[in-house]
Formats: sequence, C-alpha cells, structure tokens
Amino acid sequence: MIKLKNICCIGAGYVGGPTMAVFADKCPHLKINVVDINEDRIKAWNSQKLDDLPVFEPGLDLIIKKCRNKNLYFSTNIEEKIKNADIIFISVNTPTKEKGIGAGKVSDLKWVEASARQVAKFASGHTIVVEKSTLPVKTAEVIKTILEAAQSSPDNESKASFDVLSNPEFLAEGSAIKDLVKPDRVLIGGENKEAINALSEIYKNWVPSEKILHTNIWSSELAKLTANAFLAQRVSSINSISAICEATGADVREVSRAIGSDSRIGSKFLDSGPGFGGSCFKKDILNLVYLCQYFGLPEVAKFWEEVVRLNEWHQHRISKLIVKKLFGTISGKKIAILGFAFKANTNDTRESAAITICKDLIEEGAFLAIHDPKVDPAQIKKDLCIEESVENDLKTLKDIPISDGAWFFSDEIKNTLIGADAAVILTEWDIYKKINWIEMSKIMRRPSWVFDARSTLLLTEQFKEAGLNYWRIGDGS
Ligand code: UDX
Ligand code: ADP
Repeated sequence: MIKLKNICCIGAGYVGGPTMAVFADKCPHLKINVVDINEDRIKAWNSQKLDDLPVFEPGLDLIIKKCRNKNLYFSTNIEEKIKNADIIFISVNTPTKEKGIGAGKVSDLKWVEASARQVAKFASGHTIVVEKSTLPVKTAEVIKTILEAAQSSPDNESKASFDVLSNPEFLAEGSAIKDLVKPDRVLIGGENKEAINALSEIYKNWVPSEKILHTNIWSSELAKLTANAFLAQRVSSINSISAICEATGADVREVSRAIGSDSRIGSKFLDSGPGFGGSCFKKDILNLVYLCQYFGLPEVAKFWEEVVRLNEWHQHRISKLIVKKLFGTISGKKIAILGFAFKANTNDTRESAAITICKDLIEEGAFLAIHDPKVDPAQIKKDLCIEESVENDLKTLKDIPISDGAWFFSDEIKNTLIGADAAVILTEWDIYKKINWIEMSKIMRRPSWVFDARSTLLLTEQFKEAGLNYWRIGDGS
C-alpha cells in the first residue's frame, strides 16, 4: 500500500489555499507545502495579519493561524517542494482561452501544462499527480503524456514514476471551509487502484468512506463539468422565469418555493438574482460546449450554450430596466452599487454580474458609487477597465453635469447613497439587509429607487413609509 507523507500543491489560489488548509487541519500527520509562482500571493498567505490573506473565506483565517508553519507551509520554492512530495495536487488557474483554436470556449491549459512539466523535471520516486483545478475532459491524458514523455527523454535525470488521478473540487466560494469539511461527496477518478486508495486514505481522516466515490478518470472529469452545468442551468432557468413573473404579476420567490418543495426538483439553486458569476460556471459550460462540438454533437452544444446566453441577456435586462425606470436616461445621475463580488462572503469578482451591469450603466453616462465590504477597488478598476474618478464633487453630486459615465469606490454605505437617484443591490451581503431605508431616503435624491436584484430586502412597508420606489427581481405583484 502506498503511504503518503508529503503533499505539494501547485497553485495557492481560491481552490489550492483553502483546500490545503483543511487537509492540514484534518491531517496533522501530513506535511503540506503550497507553492506558487506569484511571490506577492505567497507573501500574503504568510502574512501575520490574517486580514491580508489573499483569499477571504469564513473560517479560513482560524485554520491558517492554527496550522501555518506547523504542518502547512506556503512557499515559492517550487523545485524543492515538488522533489520532496509523494503526492502533488495541480491547482492552477485555467481561464478560458482568449485567442486561437477554441477561443472563448475552451480552457487555456498553459498553466496546467507548465505545472506538469515542472513535476516531470523535479519529481523523485513514485509520485501521484492529482488534477484538482476545474479542467476540460481529457486533461489527465495531457498531464500523463507530458510526464511519460519527460521520463523517456535522454536528458532527464529524474527517476520518478507517476500515477495521474482526477480529484475535482466541488467547493463553492463563501462556504469553502464548510464544503471541504463536510463534502457531499469526494470524487476520485483514475486507473491504478493503489493510487486511488492512497488518496482516499487522506480523505478518510474526516470524510465517511461511503462518501468517497471511485470512478474512471473520464467520468470524474466529466462529472465536474456536468455538476457545474446543471447548477448554472438551474440559475438560468429560474432567472428566465423571473422575467415572466415580472410580466405576468407572479412572484418568482413564490414560484421557487412551490417548485422547490417537489422533492424531485429540490429547493437549492432556485434564487433568482442578477445572473450567475464566478470562475467556474461559464467556463465549464463553454468547455462542455466545445467538447460537444468536437465530438459532432451540435444539438447538445446548442442546448448548453443557451444557458450562458440567457445569463448574459438577463444581466443586460437588469441594466436596461434601471435605465427605463429612471425616465429613460441615467446620464449624470448618481447610482449606488451595493455589492461587486459575484456572491456574498467572497472577495472574488470573476465573471460577477456587477461587471456587466456597471459597464452598461457607465456606458449610459451614470456616475456609479460602488460599495463592497471585501472587494479591493484596484480589482474593480481591472474589471471595469476604467480608472476610478477622484473628483470630490462626485461623492455628493450637487450639480452634476451630463456625463460620459464614471465610478468611484465608497467604503461607507451612507456616502454611497448620498445624493443617489438609485441604489442597486447586486451582492447579497448581510450588511445590506440591515440598511435603514427610512434614514437613507432622506439623503437620496428624489424620486429615489431601490433595485433589489438579489431579492434580499423584505421591507416593503419600510419602503412605502420612506417614499422610495422599490423594484425586486422577479416580483410582478
Ligand atoms: C460553483 C459550484 O457551486 C461549486 O461546486 C464549484 O466547485 C465551483 O463553482 P461558486 O462559483 O463558488 O461554486 O458559487 P455558487 O454558489 O455555485 O454560485 C455561482 C453563481 O450563481 C453566483 O453568482 C451566485 O450568486 C449564483 N446563484 C447561485 C444564484 O444566482 N442563485 C442561486 O440560487 C444560486
Ligand atoms: P483557482 O480559483 O482555480 O484556485 P486562482 O487564479 O485563484 O485559481 O489560483 C491559481 C494560482 O495558480 C495562482 O496564484 C497562480 O499564480 C498559480 N500558478 C499558475 N501557474 C503556476 C505554476 N506553473 N506554478 C505555480 N503556481 C502557478
């Protein structure tokens, strides 16, 4: 039986960091090294100030405090950590390719390939290589080919041998620690039973055996894409229904409750919102679409592509609706954006609906005051591709000229709302549920609107009393 002692994880991002933190916490007998080429990121993981960790996840800071430099280490010394590892997790970024064959659909595997080459060069002894990043089906084969080719290369002095496993991560951001500690299932795909068992033994330290599923490698890879495609499909389905609700006088929350109590459908992932975001849903569906096209299944490709298309339509639908409600023009109007992260409890903005909606509103000439409790303004600048406006009068906006659109970051909810014609709730942060709208209505410009794209505020009476116009996603009543 293969005994594992030293783990190396390549990639200290949203998946690698929290996953290895929980491994370290649950397996004090294992030594875990997380490596990354990004020095700043490693510095941040090693920061004494736990607020500076590069990933915000509830509960993560406590685990880092407990395990760091005991059996969990963050380092840029990739060569040494690979050399000493019995098992290596590849957890690097796999964004959608921007150019070339499959651009806009297929994942760019250059970081995975680079990691595999590093492993081939530096590994020693028998090493299990695990693909952890969300990857297109057949990536394990690419990794295996690279490792085997390196072994047969005449200039290779490493005498390593390899097993490749697929062990996709199903954690959701914002609840990563909870998902890792109590997973619905752990999926391990591979060919060699011994290697599969060795990885299972790690998980058995805290996951019941019946939740650890063994499959062949392709099923494991495809299951990950399929899980995300199904979840995204549910969100697009309910978002499509929200539009019908608004048109017909129905309320999407009531419809969700009614269909969700059918045990065949289930109640999760039926909250209509501003459209799904995050690094996985769109990317994984597009990978699936590409795969279908590649294997000559255009009808299947079209079916899944529609899930992404509807999501984009839905995001633009919200911006158009805001413009329409504000008399068809928002040029020079101040709009408070509450929430920029793609969901609550994360600082991640990848594919956030807020990016599309804010860009649309800026394009229409609005001044946006953007608030988010965890997102860094520098990230917002990157996402919007527009410099932050520094003009002071934008903060109060007394006499605002017709504008070409601008934005600034506001770290205080009240400042965000001063002089605003509208507030748009795009992320379901708890702090937004506690806003006193009667007070806020006094500092907003009338007629003032609150657009609740997350349906988080159940304060219809308070809005009436405050004299605020209130729109909620999917509420036609
Ligand atoms: C997802 C998968 O859930 C996870 O298993 C996988 O490992 C990675 O991708 P994540 O992207 O972190 O996780 O977040 P998730 O909670 O799935 O939400 C994705 C998007 O859908 C968010 O923008 C969220 O706001 C939205 N969403 C989710 C809804 O709009 N309504 C819902 O009911 C659920
Ligand atoms: P994910 O959400 O999948 O975790 P992230 O982008 O948050 O993705 O993290 C991926 C990490 O992988 C980044 O910090 C990046 O610097 C790192 N990375 C990419 N390629 C390599 C490599 N060849 N060696 C080490 N680290 C890498």
